[in-house]
Amino acid sequence: MNKLAKLLSQKSQGKKLTCLTAYDASFARVLDDCGVDLLLVGDSLGMVVQGHNSTVPVTLDDMIYHSILVRRGAPQAWMIADLPFMTASSLTLALDSAQQLMQKAGVQMIKIEGDQSVVPIVAALTQQGVPVCAHLGLLPQQALRLGYKTAGKTSQAAEKLLADALALEAAGASMLVLECVMPDVAAKITQALSIPTIGIGSGNQTDGQVLVLHDVLGLSAYPPSFAPSFLVNGRTIRDAICAFVHDVRAGQFPSAS
Ligand code: KIV
Repeated sequence: MNKLAKLLSQKSQGKKLTCLTAYDASFARVLDDCGVDLLLVGDSLGMVVQGHNSTVPVTLDDMIYHSILVRRGAPQAWMIADLPFMTASSLTLALDSAQQLMQKAGVQMIKIEGDQSVVPIVAALTQQGVPVCAHLGLLPQQALRLGYKTAGKTSQAAEKLLADALALEAAGASMLVLECVMPDVAAKITQALSIPTIGIGSGNQTDGQVLVLHDVLGLSAYPPSFAPSFLVNGRTIRDAICAFVHDVRAGQFPSAS
């Protein structure tokens, strides 16, 4: 079984997937040592590394640079990288951006934000052999237009999220991040899909959990309420990251809401 198939099979085994963001070699090495399943080079780096107030200024070159650093620190880890703002505005651009992330930086899975409108891009990437992680719910690249809001609050919105999730899976997505989705809706989507869902601020019924590393380490200026610091009780950074991995796998984080 290849590495991706092994990771995906954790859903059917009821083994939670752990994911943290990584932006450099030193932290990537610690995350990998602690057994984090998925390292995400998130465009959240625009905020937590570059000091911007959104992910919009992040460029493809930034993503390639940070992915190279992460790959150097964790050569064996499964590495996912975001397609940053406007790099999926056409099929050609999306394919070219994915190609650069994979060939220049050793990225193994491409994450793309968006609803059913990105289905043609997900299908094209998949056809070219690119593993894709879709991303629904709160979409940080759309925050200027839509704001930072919990998704799926009305029955209509919940139905659309489920339809989007099914369409993205049918197009070939191998994983789905659900960001700030109402926990009952995230649970329903998780049950309906055969691919793993990775939740952030979406309750404890998803197949895995992802957090921004700087939130886990209590470094963010405005940490979201669902992302507590794990760097407490005299823990070292390594202990804090290992505690996140432990708590997710044991079903202790996040707690039932
Ligand atoms: O960019 C990022 O870090 C993300 C996670 C919050 C899922 O997309």
